[in-house]
Amino acid sequence: MAISYKDLGLVNTREMFADAIKNKYAVPAYNFNNMEQMQAIIQACVETKSPVILQVSGGARKYANQTLLRYMAQGAVEYAKELGLNIPIALHLDHGDTFELCKSCIDMGFSSVMIDGSHHDFETNIALTKKVVDYAHSFDVTVEAELGVLAGVEDDVVAEHSQYTKPEEVVEFVTRTGCDSLAISIGTSHGANKFTPAQCTRNEDGVLVPPPLAFDILEEIEKKLPDFPIVLHGSSSVPQDKVATINQYGGALKDAIGIPEAQLRRAAESSVCKINIDSDGRLAMTAAIREVFAKEPAEFDPRKYLGPAREALKELYKAKNLNVLGSANRVK
Ligand code: G3H
Ligand code: 13P
Ligand code: ZN
Repeated sequence: MAISYKDLGLVNTREMFADAIKNKYAVPAYNFNNMEQMQAIIQACVETKSPVILQVSGGARKYANQTLLRYMAQGAVEYAKELGLNIPIALHLDHGDTFELCKSCIDMGFSSVMIDGSHHDFETNIALTKKVVDYAHSFDVTVEAELGVLAGVEDDVVAEHSQYTKPEEVVEFVTRTGCDSLAISIGTSHGANKFTPAQCTRNEDGVLVPPPLAFDILEEIEKKLPDFPIVLHGSSSVPQDKVATINQYGGALKDAIGIPEAQLRRAAESSVCKINIDSDGRLAMTAAIREVFAKEPAEFDPRKYLGPAREALKELYKAKNLNVLGSANRVK
């Protein structure tokens, strides 16, 4: 029997995005695969009074089991209340690639799904997206679609170079599909290696500065779709202190470069109202765990390394909400 997200205390993204556009901030979309990540996200968002989108990827479903993750999200609603604030929480499928997968998530209580048809041709992307939208909307579930291809790895498909979203296509795409939000490609990409050092310049302090996002394309899209919710994937900043800690304690991350926070802050003030962050959380957890392992080699209680990892994650998410996305203090 199908389960409605509404009975689980979850919300879809419609009101979240309307508020984010009106008040010029972005709602955080954080991926989770396990309990510690979920706890850190909820603690951070309650403490900063921020709405949140809990994202489950195809990989997360395989790793942790879709049913368990849904129950965890249901638990997250109660957990937030226990921590003192009933923040809006959406449970979102990240990078759904088939109608069947989206349907299965909708049927089991997800409040929002992404159908990522960006690797298909325009007409196939429209047909697939519309099929998901028609099903999702009959349950008041919101749908994110994607036009344009990000550089790097998107699930199993590797895009060598990003193909920026074509502004001239967005109106037809949104009108014909009826999607609720649109992920665009303007220079972000997935993972911790978003740019090679050769693509960057050095500032006066010798710090590598990546090429800016294509704000001209974003502005054109905004003009064509006024107040329509835009989504940015691949928006980790790859904090260099985390990379340094990982490498100091035995890691081997090379040329890890992300999107500067100032660029994301600027995007969050536009019609970009959902910003996806996964890799930065992975870096924060890994740095904390490596540090414990290096400093306390006799430790073997998982709580002694997952605990500090959870704390580091929480601090990272709080800083994002407060200083980058502007989503803090939006829940009254
Ligand atoms: O967009 C990709 C997300 O970072 C999820 O990654 O498929 O390895 O869970 P994953
Ligand atoms: P990052 O790899 O930059 O964290 O992007 C995550 C993402 O887009 C999830 O859909
Ligand atoms: Zn993504």
